[in-house]
Amino acid sequence: MYISLKNLQKHLNKIVTLRGWIYNFRSSGSIMFLQLRDGTGFIQAILNKSDIDEKKWIEAQKISLETSLELTGKLTMHPKNKNEFEVQIKNFKIYQIPKDDYPISKKEHGPEFLLDNRHLWLRSRRQWAIQRIRDTLIRATYEWMHNNNFTKIDSPILTPSACEGTTTLFGVKYFDLGKAYLSQSGQLYLEAAIASWGKVYDFGPVFRAEKSKTRRHLTEFWMMDAEMAFIEHEENLKIQENLISFMIKKVLVENQEELKILERDPEPLKKIKPPFYRITHQEAIKKLQKLGSKTRETEDLGGEDETIITKQYDKPLFVEKYPAQVKSFYMKRNPKNPSLVLCADLLAPEGYGEIIGGSQREDNYDELIKRIKENNLPLENFKWYLDLRRYGSIPHSGFGFGLERIVAWLCGLTHVRETIPFPRLINRLNP
Ligand code: 4AD
Ligand code: MG
Repeated sequence: MYISLKNLQKHLNKIVTLRGWIYNFRSSGSIMFLQLRDGTGFIQAILNKSDIDEKKWIEAQKISLETSLELTGKLTMHPKNKNEFEVQIKNFKIYQIPKDDYPISKKEHGPEFLLDNRHLWLRSRRQWAIQRIRDTLIRATYEWMHNNNFTKIDSPILTPSACEGTTTLFGVKYFDLGKAYLSQSGQLYLEAAIASWGKVYDFGPVFRAEKSKTRRHLTEFWMMDAEMAFIEHEENLKIQENLISFMIKKVLVENQEELKILERDPEPLKKIKPPFYRITHQEAIKKLQKLGSKTRETEDLGGEDETIITKQYDKPLFVEKYPAQVKSFYMKRNPKNPSLVLCADLLAPEGYGEIIGGSQREDNYDELIKRIKENNLPLENFKWYLDLRRYGSIPHSGFGFGLERIVAWLCGLTHVRETIPFPRLINRLNP
């Protein structure tokens, strides 16, 4: 019977059969040390010349990086490191010896080379650890949303119009109907869904044709949009901080090994508990100007601003109430100062920056028509959206998180390109 490297304890001192790939090896005379990975974990397998016959030993000399094989041997404890298992090989069967030398070696490779070989790079221990953490975050999201009475409503990807901004859409030809656009966020559709299910969310790929070549931007990324009936600005933020704290706690419990592989210090993450910090956009600009930024009160925060400001905090920071002109048409104006909107961006600490964008939505029919016109959006495309303000309109709010930004932060990565299996960047569509 094959066993997986995930649960070895009960097999200690027994003969086991493992299947996987050799990701590293060395030999010294009559002994070979093979590092095996099977998808669930990693182990050292030791092959002693005296334990197998001559023919097998000769065959073993052909083993190279990424050889796929099956091996049988006794599971023992590592003599020095008491938390590690080892296998003393008694027999093995090779599936394939690679046809050529494996292109990714232990030496340093540049990011472009690694991205060109992304299909192989995914096999590295670091990439394994990152996607495992991503998986935990996805599961934690579903769990928290379900436990808090959200219904998952899948929003469409092919859409007739923009949600966030017309300049950042990917267009595709759509039969006789003209042009369709790949969705930037399912938000507007979720606003329709709240009148049936109250609290809803979607979670899937979204597309942005922005020409941003930064460490925070992908052209295809995964967003979780949440939308809630009868929830106003303040409560919206509380929901976000509870969700994010829950997700981090899950990673801290389930991914200790992965964080270690990534050399990610878990200590700063242990501090992430509600309440998060809150400052207004105006306060943020004042603070940034003192720190040397040239951004003005009427402007959005730049990427560099986000880096600077979040280095000042040990927990995520909500920046609230931005000037209306830098935000989307659907955001509700602040009744106390209508030049501002009831929105907040959640910025992750340690220089990571924006992970969530959210707001209370404009629920007044006439106001919303005004905003659509001001933004030069085609009114006919928003007819259905306006209907939501004609029939039983209610105060409501929502937010969207970018999964890759959260993965980058938790894994301590400098660039989002490693957070998604096959990144799409403005200059990269392959593999
Ligand atoms: O702030 P954004 O644009 O908000 C919306 O799309 C809203 N409609 C969401 C909502 O209220 N339901 O995007 C949300 C998040 C950002 O905070 C960021 O984390 C991520 O999506 N994001 C990106 N991640 C990677 N690459 C990009 N190009 C991203 N653009 C946004
Ligand atoms: Mg945003």
